[in-house]
Amino acid sequence: MKIVVTGGLGFIGSHTVVELQNENFEVVVIDNLSNSSVEVLDGIERITGNKPIFEQIDLRDKAAVHSFFKKYDDVAGVIHFAASKAVGESVKEPLLYYENNIASLVYILQELQQKPEANFIFSSSCTVYGQAEVMPIAETTPIQPAMSPYGNTKQIGEEIITDVTKVSNINAILLRYFNPIGAHPSVEIGELPIGVPQNLVPFITQTGMGLRKALSVYGNDYPTVDGTCVRDYIHVVDLAKAHVIALQRLIDKKNADKLEIFNLGTGTGSSVLEVIHAFEKVSGQKLVYNIVERREGDVTSAYANTDKANTVLGWKTVSTLEEAMDSAWKWEQKVRSKN
Ligand code: UD1
Repeated sequence: MKIVVTGGLGFIGSHTVVELQNENFEVVVIDNLSNSSVEVLDGIERITGNKPIFEQIDLRDKAAVHSFFKKYDDVAGVIHFAASKAVGESVKEPLLYYENNIASLVYILQELQQKPEANFIFSSSCTVYGQAEVMPIAETTPIQPAMSPYGNTKQIGEEIITDVTKVSNINAILLRYFNPIGAHPSVEIGELPIGVPQNLVPFITQTGMGLRKALSVYGNDYPTVDGTCVRDYIHVVDLAKAHVIALQRLIDKKNADKLEIFNLGTGTGSSVLEVIHAFEKVSGQKLVYNIVERREGDVTSAYANTDKANTVLGWKTVSTLEEAMDSAWKWEQKVRSKN
């Protein structure tokens, strides 16, 4: 069965391609290489022995999207990762985000709704919950107004898909990720942030390598276990596997509704300091860090209630925070030894 993975050379996308191939799906990757490298295809091939079909397409090009789905008219499902995801950049360049994250989504759905049936998986984010009042966060937790254009594109994206599934043959699953980290255990693929990393774990591993002088810990006066923010850090391979299960659910027509939503996290919150300590343990070295002001827009705490994914999808994370940090660290060392 042919599956289209947009953004398939990105961090979560590439790991999902591997898991799809492991389950014998034939994968067609779409990527515009705006935040990824074509060499990721080789990493995937080294893991699975199989290079996915690759189409370099910018999904903002409506005609190109149309031609793509004409060429591949027998796809069993689309997993849509392709999107911009830097919160700060989205504040500075909102239209870039609305065009890249929303226009592309509309063009893909326009193609899919013409098919007799279509299966669609959407990359959403726990960012839609904002600062939830109750932890852990279940799928029924109310959505809060978005705190950035990036967050807004995830909310609008969810709304668009919700509306379209009501009037089309598209079945969809929205996957709300908590904080994906780590790398494939083979150390063939991992996270490759361009420039200064905005996310915690790549900043930690780059600091560990001496590429950054020190990690800035954004605030230690939050009402949490040690004053630093709490997140739910999920190993990217666990996350990738959930996509294959969700897709199979749609293919097997086991979905209870045309639109379903699942939180994907471990169910455990970890503070920034706990992540640092996990890094120190697996790397055997002290991390240089300073406590600085809070970062604007950060929520205090966010971790998932995973009951729905556990029971309905039959999926559960298996990797620990330390295993995820260990893989992230091995990946960072490998990337730097090449450069
Ligand atoms: C961020 C976005 C989220 C997006 C996700 C994916 C915000 C507020 N949220 O999640 O919408 O879906 O990235 O890219 O930007 N931290 C430090 N020092 C650092 C970096 C981070 O202390 O240099 C702390 C943060 O304060 C936070 C935690 O580490 O408490 C995780 O931060 P990060 O990795 O940026 O993820 P989120 O902010 O949770």
